[in-house]
Amino acid sequence: MIRHLLIIVGIFAASMSWLIWLCRAVDPSTRYGSEVEYNYARYCAGCHGANGQGNGRIGRFKKLEPANLTTTEFWEGRTDEQLIHSIDAGKDNMPAFFYYLTDEEQRELFKFIKENFRPTPRRD
Ligand code: HEC
Repeated sequence: MIRHLLIIVGIFAASMSWLIWLCRAVDPSTRYGSEVEYNYARYCAGCHGANGQGNGRIGRFKKLEPANLTTTEFWEGRTDEQLIHSIDAGKDNMPAFFYYLTDEEQRELFKFIKENFRPTPRRD
């Protein structure tokens, strides 16, 4: 009798830990180190690619030609404010994000792509 009880408790414990593992596996935010990394993956990487090279799956598939955020020409030809404005209001094939992301989140994303994708950062 006690053995049956132990088996039931064992099965219960196993299924609970499996459920917890499943929840963690399903919630994508647990896979990213920070909120901004998660936002990039969720909102931007589909077009600009995980490494910012403009080769995300949606961008390639739909031939949207997302900007390559990793070239010197890209960063030299544009001001920070202009780029933040493009994220907020959209540009050509790029959708506007004011509806999905607060100003602060947009600025954090901009800082993220600047720090991670811009080649040989200048001092400014
Ligand atoms: C649906 C695809 C798509 C998504 C999603 C997308 N972009 Fe873009 N993005 C583009 C395209 C296309 C361009 C090129 C626009 C142009 O220069 O005509 C672009 C250009 C840019 C530029 C350069 C704008 C400029 O003024 O030259 C920045 C910065 C940028 N994207 C950042 C982001 C960020 C940050 C996100 C996520 C919040 C994002 N993009 C999501 C398609 C996308």
